[in-house]
Amino acid sequence: MGINQSQGIQHLYWGEKVPAEDCAPLLKPYDFPFNTNAEKEREEFSPWGGMFFAEPSLKVMFHDGVRDLKMICSGHTIREKQPESGETGGNNSFDELVIHMQDVKYGLRVSLFYRVAEDLDLIERHCSITNTGEAPILIENAASAVWNLSGAEARNYRLTHAAGKWGCENQLRRDLLSEGKKILESRQGFTSPTFNPWFAIDDGTAGETHGPVWFGALAWSGNWKITVEKTIFNRVRVVGGVNDFDFQWELKSGETFETPVFTGGYTSGGFGEMSRKLHQYQLAHVLPGPHAGKPTKILYNSWEATFFDVNEEEQMKLAQKAAEIGVELFVVDDGWFGTRNSDRSGLGDWTVNRKKFPSGLAPLIEHVNGLGMDFGIWVEPEMVNPDSELYKAHPDWVYQFPGREGSLGRNQLVLNLARDEVKAYILDFMTDLLEKNNIAFIKWDMNRSFSECGWMEVPRSKQREIWVRHIRNLYQIWHTLRQRFPEVMFESCSGGGGRIDLGIMHYADQFWTSDNTDAFDRLKIQYGYSYVYAPKAMMCWVTESPNSMNERKLSLTYRFHSAMTGSLGIGANLNHWNDEEKAEACRLISQYKEIRHIIQFGSVFRLLPPNDGNICAVQYVGEDKKESILFVFNHSQQFGETDLRIRLQGLDKNKKYEIGSPADFTMTGSGLMNLGLPVQLKGDFSSALIRLKILE
Ligand code: GLA
Repeated sequence: MGINQSQGIQHLYWGEKVPAEDCAPLLKPYDFPFNTNAEKEREEFSPWGGMFFAEPSLKVMFHDGVRDLKMICSGHTIREKQPESGETGGNNSFDELVIHMQDVKYGLRVSLFYRVAEDLDLIERHCSITNTGEAPILIENAASAVWNLSGAEARNYRLTHAAGKWGCENQLRRDLLSEGKKILESRQGFTSPTFNPWFAIDDGTAGETHGPVWFGALAWSGNWKITVEKTIFNRVRVVGGVNDFDFQWELKSGETFETPVFTGGYTSGGFGEMSRKLHQYQLAHVLPGPHAGKPTKILYNSWEATFFDVNEEEQMKLAQKAAEIGVELFVVDDGWFGTRNSDRSGLGDWTVNRKKFPSGLAPLIEHVNGLGMDFGIWVEPEMVNPDSELYKAHPDWVYQFPGREGSLGRNQLVLNLARDEVKAYILDFMTDLLEKNNIAFIKWDMNRSFSECGWMEVPRSKQREIWVRHIRNLYQIWHTLRQRFPEVMFESCSGGGGRIDLGIMHYADQFWTSDNTDAFDRLKIQYGYSYVYAPKAMMCWVTESPNSMNERKLSLTYRFHSAMTGSLGIGANLNHWNDEEKAEACRLISQYKEIRHIIQFGSVFRLLPPNDGNICAVQYVGEDKKESILFVFNHSQQFGETDLRIRLQGLDKNKKYEIGSPADFTMTGSGLMNLGLPVQLKGDFSSALIRLKILE
């Protein structure tokens, strides 16, 4: 970027590294006659004002009703990287550039932040908007960043993104961009499964292993919006941040509004390289300490086995069986509190149900700990059933408009977490729960979209701030809980995978990927997830066969293999497993313990996608390319074809690898990556897990 003649910050180029001097000639005024200021389209950040008709990055109203912005660059600062503090998620590990902009007349300053993770070639961008005048300013739209793409290839640009719904999250879509806008967004109050807040654009030639990809992912768990706009001048601009839909923020004198971070990058190595960069970024800079560097524990969760029917005796029995097969963390899901015997009542009443747990949680926790496992528990703090003590005491604590009946979703209402007393209530009961019980893990759920979002107690100018205040307070609660209980791990869940994003990932150790636990459907859900998010954070349970969602029958091995491609958990009713199944589960769990460092901390290579042909293959390569794991899934046997050759990736081409454990044969890295590894798979829904290791 550079400062042009009109003191605007003009974007010049984004792509493969080139010397800055080659870009200098691009810095020139650009004019197009007739009714549009085409130069504004080239701005690095483009506030709304003047003859500018593309998606703006900032829109405000001043106290006198003026809604026009004319911003010029007023300087910049550079801060160099501080030594690593050992904590992840900090900003000290980046070089930082801050560009300052100022309105030519009004007291409005915008600072554009660029934090460069040089090892990964990624940039974290966000901006802050400060009222340096006397009177309040109303912000109507404040994007985190504008990403600019241009060039001759613009005519072939394709957008890749994720779309989905409950039980079917993160399905990949790839479309050619033509003039106009494609909007990915959530208006549901939370991240939502409908779209996920990231984009990837390629020039029409990229694949898994090759080609230019420009990408970005937004760190925000509330209403968000990413607008991908191709203009008639052959430019593509991606504007993203907090959704401006029903949004307004009152900025008083001296106040600053900080937007969420939008992380972006470029690679010439295709979608595979994009994902690996993002995964490494999350492991190094996003996932919270102190667990980010440790393998995720194998958990057991009885939700699918018992639903709301939890009690001390049955949970103790399940815990015994879970411990026998090698589980490390035993989690009690919904149903342990208040009158929560179904989803119709009790939500909000976070006291142990004494009919189900006569002496509280302590006996079960002691039993679980005695079996050598950690104990975890489910909560859904942002919600309330109207049939609850909490709602009776505080009917005004939910989002609502006077005189309108609020829509119920799963028989519940959303608590107004923009209110400080609601925030304090949640923080208090969570602190109490964690202080009084030896709880090592929290599954934090959130099971409905926001609606009728009234907050009538505050002045009208502040009522639409709820969309942002709710999420900020949520982040603050998680932050405080993590500080108070640094050893406790947190999982972000939202009717399955409805709250997966880089924002909550600063506080959550892992995500519940989907309520759909069918191991075949999961291949597609997990494939889409892996485009942006790290396998370490992707929770996958082995559940029953036939699966409760679709009656599909799959072998225990297939179910395990599908779940072992992320962080493994068990969600089946262990009372239904016979001795043979338990022995097989035990074997696979101990195998997973031997290989999880490769899956959770290594590099992922999506060799054959699950939505294209019969065979799906995904490979993980560990540090120094010494070890690798290959998973192969056969959908349906056809034409007697059982002998496959799967071309691997990411190995050391000059080294010999032992294949199998114990080793069956050896091949060179070069042979494995070019000739391919011979794999035999017979039968519908068959699968294989193959281990490879460098021969020292
Ligand atoms: C949501 C979650 C499930 C389970 C139930 C409990 O649907 O995604 O995993 O916790 O809530 O009510």
